[in-house]
Amino acid sequence: MTSDLLIVANRLPVDRVKNDDGSTTWRKSPGGLVTAIEPVMRANDGTWIGWPGGTDQDLEPFEDDGMNLVPLSMTAEEIEGFYEGFSNGCLWPLYHDLVAKPEFHREWWDVYVSVNRRFAEKAASLAAEGATVWVHDYQLQLVPQMLRELRPDLRIGFYLHIPFPPAELFQQLPWRRQILEGLLGADLLGFQLPGGAQNFVRLVRQRVGHKTHKELVYLPDGRTVRAEAFPISIDAKGFETLARSEPVAERAAAIREQLGNPRKVFLGIDRLDYTKGIVARLRAFSELVRDGHLDVEDAVFVQVAVPSREQVEEYRILRDEIDRLVGRINGDLGRIGRPVISYLHSSYPREEMAALYRMADVMVVTPYRDGMNLVAKEYVACRLDDDGALVLSEFAGAAAELRQAWLVNPHDIDGMKTALLQAFEAGDKELTKRMKAMRKTILAHDVAAWAAEFMRMLSDVDNVHDKELNPPGS
Ligand code: G6P
Repeated sequence: MTSDLLIVANRLPVDRVKNDDGSTTWRKSPGGLVTAIEPVMRANDGTWIGWPGGTDQDLEPFEDDGMNLVPLSMTAEEIEGFYEGFSNGCLWPLYHDLVAKPEFHREWWDVYVSVNRRFAEKAASLAAEGATVWVHDYQLQLVPQMLRELRPDLRIGFYLHIPFPPAELFQQLPWRRQILEGLLGADLLGFQLPGGAQNFVRLVRQRVGHKTHKELVYLPDGRTVRAEAFPISIDAKGFETLARSEPVAERAAAIREQLGNPRKVFLGIDRLDYTKGIVARLRAFSELVRDGHLDVEDAVFVQVAVPSREQVEEYRILRDEIDRLVGRINGDLGRIGRPVISYLHSSYPREEMAALYRMADVMVVTPYRDGMNLVAKEYVACRLDDDGALVLSEFAGAAAELRQAWLVNPHDIDGMKTALLQAFEAGDKELTKRMKAMRKTILAHDVAAWAAEFMRMLSDVDNVHDKELNPPGS
């Protein structure tokens, strides 16, 4: 069985969950990507290739909601070298402005190459003649070129969900040329922001020596590669509808009640990752309490940290650091039944997230660097009454669109303190003015529009052939 449309991503859009009786089932992961892609996948009998998580071997392909899901298994060594090692110990910090120090290990690189090859071979075996293949993210940057070598008939798109770094940083990578050439196997390369696309084109000119003009790269074999920004978004209507629902409204009220009905609730929700600036943000908030600008009867900070990449050393160190910091802040500044920070190390379903967004007065999103940050957009989508304040890092991709947020430099603790206080004290009129404008932006450009725009640009590429995909719903 071959498909006209393939998605190739490190993860499948479902998670394998173990039931109490020891059996396993699949649960749809909450991401917006799958929501956006599902309609066009269904219309084209699409296939999604990805790692199911864990080390289970030889899981059979299966169907889920009109999509063919093909699990690509990994051994423990592959997880260590490819996923934890090269992807998350080298590329992740390098692409996020060296927030942590990237490690360059040749053994990791070798496994990255071989796992990318397995993804490419799997895609090559499942793609129909002239099919469209959309490859995702930093874990699979060699797949476009490997796939093109195996199947020159395919139309190949690639989207990078994280920032693409400036040349000055990317240049450190011992395998910089291989990565650039790997990406150039695609017909269309999508980045979150124009800056990322420009960084890429500049590097290709300098390091690979190809001719470029604006967003185009001219290859010696006559192909052109287009590198452009497609800022990703969320299922805005879906979130809004969820936030409007009775159970979510009740849950939002119940959470506030449990928090002791403080005047204002601050909220942070992040994967537990050093790029997210969790420590600095909690420090800023706690100093406001310590210095008497905020009172624990008036304000509480709810911080949700979603467990992530727990086998990677840096993530373990960060978890310990946050545990210690929260303990110290609450010990020093809290009162009985009134912690300064209500800290949850857990992941939650969409309904609970919507309830948290609905109940929070000030959403605090302060990453040091972030490709986009969908949490900021989800908060805005859930603010049905045009109220609530968003404090947002200038270094999140979302800041390019959400200009009416309180924009902060997450390295500047005093600046963050000022913004947190301003957001806390802002009057209704100001909050409404800002939130209305942000809601307009988010609702006008959702993830379905993002996917449609990328697919449209990809189908316009005239490098190879002209087989067209079916539109969604056909
Ligand atoms: C970021 C990356 C994704 C990744 C996700 C979760 O959003 O861009 O590619 O899937 O983090 O990280 P994980 O390592 O659990 O897949």
